[in-house]
Amino acid sequence: MPDNARLAIMISGRGSNMAALIKACKNGNLAADVVKVIADKANAPGLKTARELDIEAVAIERQKYGSKFLHEQKILCELNAVSPDFICLAGYMRILSPDFVRQYENKILNIHPSLLPKYTGLNTHERVLAAGDSIHGATVHFVTDGLDEGPVVAQSQVSVSPDDDVRSLEEKVLNIEHALYIEAVRKILNDRAQSEKCEPVFR
Ligand code: GRF
Repeated sequence: MPDNARLAIMISGRGSNMAALIKACKNGNLAADVVKVIADKANAPGLKTARELDIEAVAIERQKYGSKFLHEQKILCELNAVSPDFICLAGYMRILSPDFVRQYENKILNIHPSLLPKYTGLNTHERVLAAGDSIHGATVHFVTDGLDEGPVVAQSQVSVSPDDDVRSLEEKVLNIEHALYIEAVRKILNDRAQSEKCEPVFR
């Protein structure tokens, strides 16, 4: 049996996607272990949730560092210490620099509340309502230098009804996000296992 994959999770707030990933690892729904949670805010509620689930969780606050570069260096230090196979951004509200992304190329995932490539960036629910779309949803994608532009791993849809508002849409989308993130990570881990199996071995 190959070793479980090592996941690090980065958050800024509530951490419901983070909790779903941690629980999926703990109950055997994902062949992975969450090895660290990093928040950019000391008061992120997700930090407490992670600790209650027995996961090491640290706050690395931007304002304690003189620059974005130094802040990211500290985060990289914390990540490198646990050698993650993948980093899951789960409501992490900062844009990672190209240098950061390069250090974990093809290993950083994000969940975004829209059907990418539609509605990159913020306020997706407002924009879906303003456009009168009848379908909305969420996407898990690899993180690249372009904002919300990396290759899509998985998407899930919800329908928008005439009486939806921003709150109800946010709730509908969040409801599908947790299973979607787990499914996307599982797909990546399966793909990785397959490619390891298929790799020619020359001895
Ligand atoms: C989710 O809607 C996610 O799509 C977006 O931020 C929100 C995070 O929610 N990137 P939570 O912190 O996981 O509850």
